[in-house]
Amino acid sequence: MAKLSIIIILMLPTFSLQSPYIPPEIQRCSRAFLTVSSLWRPQSYSNRFEAETEVELNWETNCDESNYIDSVALFREHPGNKGAVSLIHLPTKQYPGYFRTNITLGNTTLPGGWQLEEEEEKDLHKDQNKKSDEDSEFSIEEDEESEAEKEEQLKVRRENRRDDDSPVKGDHCLPFWIAAYRNKTLTYIDCLKIRPTWIWDHRADLGDMSLRSLFIPGTHNSGCYKKLTGLNNQSARRNSFASRFLLTQDLDIYAQLVYGIRYLDIRVGYYPSTPEQFWVNHDVSRLVPLRHVLQSVKQFLKRSPDPLILDFHRFPVGFTERRRGRRKQHKGVSPAHRLLVDLLWNELGEFSPADASMPLNTLWKSGRRLLVSYADKASREEFPWLRGEIGNVADKSKETIWTHRPSVIVIQEWGNVQNSSQLYEFLSRTIERRKKLWGPSMKSGNGDLWAAMAELTPTPMDVVFSRPGSGLRRMAHDVNRNVTRWFRDLWWQSANIVATDFFRGTNIVDVAVEANLRRSHI
Ligand SMILES: *[C@@H]1O[C@H](CO)[C@@H](O)[C@H](O)[C@H]1NC(C)=O
Ligand SMILES: *[C@@H]1O[C@H](CO)[C@@H](O)[C@H](O)[C@H]1NC(C)=O
Ligand SMILES: *[C@@H]1O[C@H](CO)[C@@H](O)[C@H](O)[C@H]1NC(C)=O
Ligand SMILES: *[C@@H]1O[C@H](CO)[C@@H](O)[C@H](O)[C@H]1NC(C)=O
Ligand SMILES: *[C@@H]1O[C@H](CO)[C@@H](O)[C@H](O)[C@H]1NC(C)=O
Ligand SMILES: *[C@@H]1O[C@H](CO)[C@@H](O)[C@H](O)[C@H]1NC(C)=O
Repeated sequence: MAKLSIIIILMLPTFSLQSPYIPPEIQRCSRAFLTVSSLWRPQSYSNRFEAETEVELNWETNCDESNYIDSVALFREHPGNKGAVSLIHLPTKQYPGYFRTNITLGNTTLPGGWQLEEEEEKDLHKDQNKKSDEDSEFSIEEDEESEAEKEEQLKVRRENRRDDDSPVKGDHCLPFWIAAYRNKTLTYIDCLKIRPTWIWDHRADLGDMSLRSLFIPGTHNSGCYKKLTGLNNQSARRNSFASRFLLTQDLDIYAQLVYGIRYLDIRVGYYPSTPEQFWVNHDVSRLVPLRHVLQSVKQFLKRSPDPLILDFHRFPVGFTERRRGRRKQHKGVSPAHRLLVDLLWNELGEFSPADASMPLNTLWKSGRRLLVSYADKASREEFPWLRGEIGNVADKSKETIWTHRPSVIVIQEWGNVQNSSQLYEFLSRTIERRKKLWGPSMKSGNGDLWAAMAELTPTPMDVVFSRPGSGLRRMAHDVNRNVTRWFRDLWWQSANIVATDFFRGTNIVDVAVEANLRRSHI
């Protein structure tokens, strides 16, 4: 007993510095947050940039009267500023905990110097112009901005940037704030934010935790984000098969990471006859050259000290040769895998391999903070770094940087479900099972990395008989708010990786940061 109270006394000061204790019920009910809609609003076809990414207001309804907020408001500046005027002010009782505005994020640049400079972006996308002839499902949209607009954007970016050219660590608000009121008094303020260095920012609390014991926000089919061209009619384009069933995200990889995503789920196809060779695929459709993804990850790792997980989870096209309709068994590593692993090592080897069970402080000390999970056993057997080891095949015994069998593979828990209640059932069963596998202490860092795939999956019939307006955006819209609440209120203590579609429709990054701070004090 005496020991326990000493620990509590020692812990309290740091805890209260980081996050003053507020009972979860009050925390949940006195707050409000912003999300970005995954849907397209049909009326606004005329304005290309602003038709999507509408801002949504969220708050809790199932609350004790004494904690309940009675109105929420949206601002374009800090609500505490003198003379700040709200764009929308809603009485909460008249809505079901959610309001989708018609105000869009539009072309908002990433604040704090995190926006890539024009040249850097060009570098990232220069191969977009190399349109390849063959079997491309759709090509990549050219920016139709005027020169004046481009100049204006560049000016904004330059102003956002500090002299020494490095972005500013810590959270930054995008120019959208939500304010909550109780009894006409402002009680809570939050903004739509980027959290480009959140793990590092909280290193005092999280440094002893591992990737295994963290709550890690991720995206599903992370590379499936491109805008479509080929159809001039906006409405037709939005309702095209590709746009409704292939795209799972509306931000590119770099922006996802800057917002706070730390797990990327990548499926690669190998197309030896295209100049790019490796592409990000959604099943058998190729979408974005893999090089964009690797360069985005590198750009990010150079700017942010945060660790991250890159999961090469499937290789749907070109990795196994077929003979008479059957997959040919390769002895050892297939040539395509060998090429891909070499490419990965050349592009990102300096940051890899990380070990999921090591404390983050150790990852920072070693400089190895990129965990590549590579779902091909033969490749892992041949390339030690894919097993979390440094060294070459001939020299297996030496040069391992981790002292035990490292943990480098992500297990995806995917329910293949079509509605919100099924997803809930699946995820709660999975969480229970995973809890048993972990044993009593998550902090021990044993066991595998695992990802709760928190999205719905269309059935083949859904795709074939789909109507306009259906598709992955709609499915994300149907579950994303539930996903936020489940992981915030029920499963914050037990989740590892949580991967979503159109993740800005959830509040998953903020949920993860708070869950981690709470876990670090258990
Ligand atoms: C946006 O919504 C408001 C009501 O919330 C409405 O008055 C306004 O006309 C709408 N604007 C557009 C461009 O649809
Ligand atoms: C966004 O685009 C509008 C014109 O469509 C322009 O006036 C504005 O400056 C742009 N904003 C930023 C931050 O680039
Ligand atoms: C609301 O505020 C008024 C005065 O500002 C105060 O008299 C009243 O007790 C408050 N009600 C609650 C429920 O706090
Ligand atoms: C765009 O295409 C849709 C369906 O393909 C059609 O209903 C609509 O009239 C078209 N709009 C224009 C402006 O051509
Ligand atoms: C979800 O799908 C299951 C299986 O198709 C069905 O039984 C259930 O009624 C559906 N629930 C809702 C809320 O649509
Ligand atoms: C999902 O959220 C909606 C409203 O936000 C609610 O009506 C529904 O019951 C939730 N579904 C589940 C399975 O929790």
